[in-house]
Order: sequence, then C-alpha cells, then structure tokens
Amino acid sequence: MKCLVTGAAGFIGSNLCEELLKQGYEVIGVDNLSAGKLQNLNACMKYPEFKFHQIDILYKEIKDLFVGVDYVFHEAASKKTICLRNPQMDLLINGAGTLMMLQLAMKNNIKKFIHASTGSVYGEGQIFPQTEDHPLNPCSYYGVSKLAGEKYVALFQKMGLNTTILRYFHVYGAKQDDSYKGGVIAIWLKAIFTGTTVFIHGNGDQMRSFTYVKDVVDANIAAMTKGDGEIYNCASGIKVTLNELIAKLKLRYKFSVTKDDPMEGDIYKFEIDNNKIIKDLNINFTDFNTGLDATIRYYQSLYSKV
Ligand SMILES: NC(=O)c1ccc[n+]([C@@H]2O[C@H](COP(=O)([O-])OP(=O)(O)OC[C@H]3O[C@@H](n4cnc5c(N)ncnc54)[C@H](O)[C@@H]3O)[C@@H](O)[C@H]2O)c1
Repeated sequence: MKCLVTGAAGFIGSNLCEELLKQGYEVIGVDNLSAGKLQNLNACMKYPEFKFHQIDILYKEIKDLFVGVDYVFHEAASKKTICLRNPQMDLLINGAGTLMMLQLAMKNNIKKFIHASTGSVYGEGQIFPQTEDHPLNPCSYYGVSKLAGEKYVALFQKMGLNTTILRYFHVYGAKQDDSYKGGVIAIWLKAIFTGTTVFIHGNGDQMRSFTYVKDVVDANIAAMTKGDGEIYNCASGIKVTLNELIAKLKLRYKFSVTKDDPMEGDIYKFEIDNNKIIKDLNINFTDFNTGLDATIRYYQSLYSKV
C-alpha cells in the first residue's frame, strides 16, 4: 500500500511518515521545506520504502507523484504565525493547495484522503465542551483558510472521494519547531534548556487541550479504515492553562518568565469534547504527564548536544 504525506518534513508529517514505514507502508513524502526540516526525516530515510520529494504542493509537477497512491495524508499548511504576516499565502496553501490535492486524489482514484484541520476553525468557544457541531467562526486568517480547506474536503466527499477530517489541537512532542513560529511547549523547553527567558503571550489563562503527537499519528492511521466522511476533534481533552504549565515546569526547573503582548488571533479557551474520536477510531489519548516527560527528554537531549 502506497501513502502520500504532504508536509512530510514538518512536525506531525515526519512522525506520521515514520510510523507508516514501521507498519510496512510505502511512503512518498512531499514538502517544500518552507518550515519543515530534512533532519526530521533522518529515521525515514533509512527505509528503502521511503521517497522524499522537495516540491511545493502548488506546483503542477506534483501530479506525477499521485500515480498508484492508495492513501493521502494532507499535513502541509501555512501556519498561524506565518499567516499573520502573509494571509494571502495562507489562503493559497490552505485553501487552493488543499483543493489541488483533492483534485489529484479524485483523479487517481485513491482509497482515502485524510485531512489535517484545526480547532481554530471554531474560533473563540461559545458552547462547552466543544463538540464537532460547535459553530464555526474562525477569528484568525489561519482559521478562515483552514476552514476553506475543510469545506473543499466536504465537497469532494459529496462527489465520491472517501475522506476523513481530523481537527487537531495544540499538538506537542518530538520534532516540533521550537523557533518563535513553533509550539508553546517546544519553545518553552528550548528556553529552559538554553537558559533564556520563557515568554507568555497574554495573561497565561489561555486554556489548552495539549495532544501528544503519537495520538495524532494513531488517529491518522485509524482513519485509513474508519470514520469515512466524518469530522473528528483530535484532542486529548486535557484542560491546562499556560500558567498551570509554567507551574508544572517550575517544579523541575529554574527559569525566568516574562509576560508579553497577547498574540493576534489567539483563542483563550479550548474545552474539547473528544467522545466521537474515542468511540469511532478507538484512540487512547496519552495522559499529559507521560507525553510531557517524553517531550522533555527529547528537547533535553537535543540541547545537551549543543
Ligand atoms: N501542531 C499543531 O498543534 C497543529 C494544530 C492544529 C492543526 N495543525 C495542522 O497540522 C498540520 C501539520 O502541522 P505541523 O504542526 O506539523 O506543522 P509544520 O509546519 O511542522 O508542518 C507543515 C509542513 O508543511 C510544509 N509546507 C508548507 N507549505 C507547503 C507547500 N506549499 N508545499 C509543500 N509543503 C509545504 C512545511 O515546510 C512543513 O514541513 C497542518 O495542516 C496544521 O494546520 C497542527
């Protein structure tokens, strides 16, 4: 079975490629390396069943890579921090790019298109806990463009393409970008292990549903055979504020914290209902302490080598 993973050199894409290869799939990884890193794919490169192509999903040459593909995992995206600087790019990649991937998937009669979406499509929560039926009122350029992507997926589902949409929430774990564009846990662990200040944007009361990357990978693989035509909150259901996370890390490490301006488009409260994904896709979400410990070990070892 042949899988095509877009955004393969990114955080989630690279973890997904590695697990697919471990499970015996042939994997074509696609990434333009605008945010992803080749070193994220070091483990994958050891498999003869893995082929990497540095190509933009908007380039027409990508069509040749779809020949003989059974499953498409669409992870490539222009992310929130980038889009605040370039919203047109966001719409182009997350909207038009997704449309192109769907057209190619349809043309090549693939078995399933599994789409990475985001909790940002809900915007600021109105009804808690937030189920998949929560109103969709994105409040960032990123959220609007990802919602456009979702709507294209829904359209192609109606036209006969088999799809599943997974809405991710605050994914964390090994290989996440720890630059200012990355995820909060990765950024803070880098600051702690390099002895620099930890910055909190806003008052720190933002509630997050941190979800371990292994669980997101498991959900993608489960969606290959289940959840046809469905949308799922792919969230651990954990409720942690940023201030609580700081307190947890302070129990182990000494570091300074500085409050900074709130981030534009940041959503304050996520309280996510994950009953549907647990029931249909059988996902056992990792508890926060276990996932955080594994992530700490990864960044500690990364920065002990610097
Ligand atoms: N990480 C999270 O917490 C989170 C939360 C919600 C949704 N998501 C979604 O999950 C997916 C993966 O996110 P991630 O955290 O791994 O991000 P990431 O930035 O690490 O990975 C995205 C990858 O896509 C690549 N890419 C971007 N534009 C491209 C293009 N035009 N052509 C080819 N490749 C391109 C980047 O180089 C990068 O490697 C995205 O669709 C994102 O919207 C992530």
